[in-house]
Amino acid sequence: MTMNITGKTAVYGVIGDPIEHSLSPTLQNAAFQALNVDCVFLAFHVLPSGVEDVLRGMRGLGIRGLNVTMPHKNAVIAHLDEVDETAQFLGSVNTILNDDGKLRGFSTDGTGAHRALEENGVDLAGKKLVLLGAGGAAKAIAYTLAQEVSELVLLNRTPQKLDSLAEAVNQKFHKKVTVASTPPNTIQESLKDADILVNATNVGMYPNTAQSLVAAEWIKPDLAVMDIVYNPLETKLAKDAKAAGARVISGVEMLIYQGAASFELWTGKPAPVEVMRNAAITQLHR
Ligand code: ATR
Repeated sequence: MTMNITGKTAVYGVIGDPIEHSLSPTLQNAAFQALNVDCVFLAFHVLPSGVEDVLRGMRGLGIRGLNVTMPHKNAVIAHLDEVDETAQFLGSVNTILNDDGKLRGFSTDGTGAHRALEENGVDLAGKKLVLLGAGGAAKAIAYTLAQEVSELVLLNRTPQKLDSLAEAVNQKFHKKVTVASTPPNTIQESLKDADILVNATNVGMYPNTAQSLVAAEWIKPDLAVMDIVYNPLETKLAKDAKAAGARVISGVEMLIYQGAASFELWTGKPAPVEVMRNAAITQLHR
């Protein structure tokens, strides 16, 4: 990769702990190069004690934009000037825009999942969604997709983690929301008349690649299945769904559209999604 750094090059980056395996530099630099914009994107290893200094430095140095990953997605909020409504509700910011010294926070996790589904031909309106998991990603996905689907079934090994989210979704969007635990028969039963299944747990992630919360025989051909796990590129769940004839959306798609949404917030230009997809897949194959 050759890059022409000049006196005008705008600096972007990602902060996290750990950070060395982040795909964001690969995705964002590929996008900057494709659009021929004078920008560079770097990864910064930041410990929890350094978050406040980073945001002061972002203002001081004029860093244009930052992605925020674990474990800082909540901690950055106290140091921002403005936080968008979704990010505020989720208590999680993954994108910061430096708007002439005003630091504005957003969450593109839910948007990423929404666009990944939509761009891969999954229509959400009036559909029943079954979502597995209750971590930060699961909540962002549930909150965003709840605005479009008609029914939401939230399942987690520890269902109590979902109670407040279910109540908020129900009050705010007036949607039917069920919360339950994940014994096999509950998942099987929920999938009988479901249209979309999203795995937002880390089950199936390397090195536990033989695991899936969903038995192959519960997957009908008319189900759309998205797994947010992208390592391996094709999870056990994705393989089983493909074999059942279901539409499969891989975890890389969510990652790409999340990055694309950040890119668009920063640059105001449509993200070169195909370039970002190729860059991410090439990196993941290494
Ligand atoms: P993130 O914030 O990245 O979404 P997380 O907060 O670590 O991730 O959440 C991981 C999710 O995977 C949780 O929903 C977790 O279930 P619990 O809330 O009960 O811990 C789920 N998970 C992890 N391992 C699991 C397993 N073996 N079986 C079922 N669910 C599992």
